Amino acid sequence: MANFDPHKGYAPLLAETLVTESQLQMRCGELGGQISEDYAGREVLLICILRGGVMFLTDLMRHIRVPCQIDMMAVQSYGLGARSSNGEPRITLDLNSSIRDRHVLLVEDIVDSGHTIAQVLKILQTREPASLKVCALLNKQSRRQAHVPLSYVGFEIEDKYVFGYGLDLDEYFRNLPFIGVLKPEHY
Ligand code: IMP
Ligand code: MG
Repeated sequence: MANFDPHKGYAPLLAETLVTESQLQMRCGELGGQISEDYAGREVLLICILRGGVMFLTDLMRHIRVPCQIDMMAVQSYGLGARSSNGEPRITLDLNSSIRDRHVLLVEDIVDSGHTIAQVLKILQTREPASLKVCALLNKQSRRQAHVPLSYVGFEIEDKYVFGYGLDLDEYFRNLPFIGVLKPEHY
């Protein structure tokens, strides 16, 4: 159960805005441009890690100028109400497409302990993609427990719980167009 009333909106929960809507849009343009250069002459399969990666995927893909396809997978990192990963993520929805011999780019909202993305990389590597890289919107480097190579990072952030732009607070507020920091009393 959420310890807040979603009908009261996000304002009572917000300590500060961390990344504004225009900063997010600008960074998506930059990352999309970089990815387009790096994958020039190739096709890329963008894999969105549901559900946090949805906003980022849809904005990022507008800026990708090489042929691309998308697919989705869902991973459960931790239960409702928990604010940190338990270290054993499970795949709850698998891909539709084969990734064998394809250039795969995982699109993730945030890498925190790294357990989620490490597990996904381990599983996908066994399916023999031509390449497998990670594009994370946010990176909480100070919290890292598992080693994960990140090829693209939108923003390096401090160890604070953030929400909005795909990231949730007990499944709410993914729809906000900016990223905010949760007030510490709600951690
Ligand atoms: P990790 O396995 O610890 O790296 O956890 C990564 C996942 O936890 C992300 O894909 C998010 O879904 C979630 N997560 C981690 N930190 C935050 C946060 O500050 N706000 C919202 N979700 C988060
Ligand atoms: Mg996520």
